[in-house]
Amino acid sequence: MMTEKTYKPCDLVIYGALGDLSRRKLMMSLYQLDKSKLLEPQTRIIGVDRLNESKAGFIEIVHKSLMEFLPTAFEEDVWQRLSARFEYLQMNINDPQEFKKLGAILDQKNRITVNYLAIPPSLFKSVCTGLNKTKLIHKESRLVMEKPIGHDLQSSHEINDTFQAVFKEEQIYRIDHYLGKETVLNLLALRFANSIFTTNWSHDTIDNVQITVAEEVGIEGRWDYFDHSGQLCDMLQNHLLQILTFIAMEPPVSLEAKNIHQEKIKVLKALRPISDWDVSTKTVRGQYTKGYVQGKEVPGYLEEEGANTESSTESFVAMRVDIDNWRWSGVPFYLRTGKRMNRKRTEIIITFKQLPHNIFKASFQDLPPNKLVIYLQPKEGVEIEMLSKVPCINGSIRLQKNKLDLSFVDAKKKTRASGGYERLLLEAMRGNNKLFISREETEAAWAWVDSIQHAWNKLSDGPKAYSAGTWGPNAADALLARDGRTWED
Ligand code: BG6
Repeated sequence: MMTEKTYKPCDLVIYGALGDLSRRKLMMSLYQLDKSKLLEPQTRIIGVDRLNESKAGFIEIVHKSLMEFLPTAFEEDVWQRLSARFEYLQMNINDPQEFKKLGAILDQKNRITVNYLAIPPSLFKSVCTGLNKTKLIHKESRLVMEKPIGHDLQSSHEINDTFQAVFKEEQIYRIDHYLGKETVLNLLALRFANSIFTTNWSHDTIDNVQITVAEEVGIEGRWDYFDHSGQLCDMLQNHLLQILTFIAMEPPVSLEAKNIHQEKIKVLKALRPISDWDVSTKTVRGQYTKGYVQGKEVPGYLEEEGANTESSTESFVAMRVDIDNWRWSGVPFYLRTGKRMNRKRTEIIITFKQLPHNIFKASFQDLPPNKLVIYLQPKEGVEIEMLSKVPCINGSIRLQKNKLDLSFVDAKKKTRASGGYERLLLEAMRGNNKLFISREETEAAWAWVDSIQHAWNKLSDGPKAYSAGTWGPNAADALLARDGRTWED
């Protein structure tokens, strides 16, 4: 009998097996899964790439990558188990005939084929055509791919049409690795398993929501990709909007994929478009110049390796987002994300409304509002900022600010921080698609992001400069100051 823990063996085919994503993230995650005995014993990993490598050469490259990127000690017995699963296939994926070579390796009778596209979107179509023409798609085959699904609504339509011409929607797994993070998933538990939050979660009680995804890293040698994408499409269109939907969605009927997708789509469709006339007051773009991050000198965006020194691509975005629905009317969501910022920090801060009357003026002229702070990474946990009485038996009641620590991560039981890929790879192999993104979701997100791109394209000024190692350009502070608020740093 198959249970949550068991699943049919897979042939996991990784296209782009020698590329960055595969070496840095996928192989490491497969190692961790094998270490935790979560890889089905018969599952094989078939690396496909255009480079002429032997199987032994491929294994050697993966070994080197693990030595470089593995955060935990390398264990020889795990490696022996993992490397025994490897096959390597040099292939020109633009030539459908070449897929016959893949067909000769696949064991479709006994294993489910999971096709993982760790390749640029421009090659997605070739894989679909090759698999289709050589009849390598069966009702249990799966297709897994990374964001970005396109660079705008039109291109995302085209990619999705290409997939859906040969695969059914339930066979398609669109990855946003933030949905594999323990802390992001915990948002569902926090919101829908605790009545104190289900009943205090709307414009009646919440003043504003801030979502910050700050990164220390720059573009890590990915100039070509990043310069065409920018922080808006690289981070905000996907990761930040996913976090936002988890905070803003209505309770789903159940945890089934279709019910979760439905509620997320409703939020995405309710995002108020940003247009030419308000883009300058509602959004801020930034680009880092050289500076110091954690004491280390780093180059500016235009000085990165391979840079086009004329580029006006943004490495930072901040914006005010309004959700036009009953629950969130009048509650601004402030989103902020950037590369080369002061430190890595992903967190959500929900500020509640101030009380209507203050009887503690002796302590606070204005009573500070309660805040719910959800730390996603690298710190994990939940805190509520509250007011309490200063303990004393003499004198009047005076208040002090306190933090109530609701941390859900028991330090002793802390699960290994997987960064998201481990869980998602496992779910794709098990055939559970609730943590993946549906076509409608990705297209709704693009439709909204397109409105911002179009408005930006008409502006005469480009991104504002900010020094690496800061929290972004001053204009990001002005964005909130216009609403009488500040970022919670
Ligand atoms: C990726 C982006 O999706 O997420 C990268 O392409 C970014 O530019 C990365 O650095 C951040 O992921 P994490 O898990 O480190 O927050």
